[in-house]
Amino acid sequence: MKNEKVTVPGVRARKRSGPKIAMLTAYDATMARLLDEGGADILLVGDSLGMVVQGLPNTLPVTLDEICYHGRAVARGTRRAQVVGDMPFMSFQVSPEKALEAAGKLMKEGSVEAVKLEGGEIVAEHVHRITSVGIPVMGHVGLMPQSVHAMGGFRVQGKAEDDALRVIADARALEQAGAYAIVLEGIPSELARRITEAVDVPTIGIGAGPHCDGQVLVCYDFLGMYRDLAPKFVKRFAELGEAVVSATAAYVDEVRAGSFPAGEHSFGAARGPARSAAELRVVGEEPPAPEVRYGGACR
Ligand code: KIV
Repeated sequence: MKNEKVTVPGVRARKRSGPKIAMLTAYDATMARLLDEGGADILLVGDSLGMVVQGLPNTLPVTLDEICYHGRAVARGTRRAQVVGDMPFMSFQVSPEKALEAAGKLMKEGSVEAVKLEGGEIVAEHVHRITSVGIPVMGHVGLMPQSVHAMGGFRVQGKAEDDALRVIADARALEQAGAYAIVLEGIPSELARRITEAVDVPTIGIGAGPHCDGQVLVCYDFLGMYRDLAPKFVKRFAELGEAVVSATAAYVDEVRAGSFPAGEHSFGAARGPARSAAELRVVGEEPPAPEVRYGGACR
């Protein structure tokens, strides 16, 4: 399991065989490499990048081209995990045909292995159209951030029984349309348990309690780097935000004090004041060959 590539049939099989699916978001190759090495099963190039990478108040302005760009970066850093691309707001809602075109673009230009889209019964036809050509679709019901304005904010969904029944019907519709897994976001634990029992595909929860077949968190949240919001469902598994702030303060101090860079971070032995290439030629010496450079930085 540790090194085996995660596939769509493999994800589906985890519903019966376990272990639970551990999914995280990723937006760049370096982070993807680390999360993949740590054993994450699925890396989602989420439209949450609008909030945690672009600094926007919600996900609505994120474009398909942006998800494609970040998808390529994440795919380059990933070996074992399955890479899933989020279909952004208005890239798929208009019609099943438009949804298929957008999903195809995301697969071709975003290097992803599956797409995820928000919505239940209302997008079931879209999901069917996409999956019918062999593109795997992950569904997403409950709290759907692309409907933030309709919901009156990022609010827990399905608390009242008629709302709960609607979320269950949404999940069933997605399963029937061919979704291979369904994200359950921001719903009571008991409702997540009912949905997990009602559908035959894995459920992956975020703010949906412990009864799902897997869990997903935004990488900047679980690492303690995104500190603008602190939702109850987020557990910080590290405090990298603190670590970045104190590392930066230490760097600033050392640069100002002149203690960085020290000898071990510098090239060549200093013999008197540095002489330019022109000065060296005047005294009959050849200037040294340039160091190997990557984008201006010697390594
Ligand atoms: O965009 C995202 O990161 C998501 C997850 C929170 C499921 O949709």
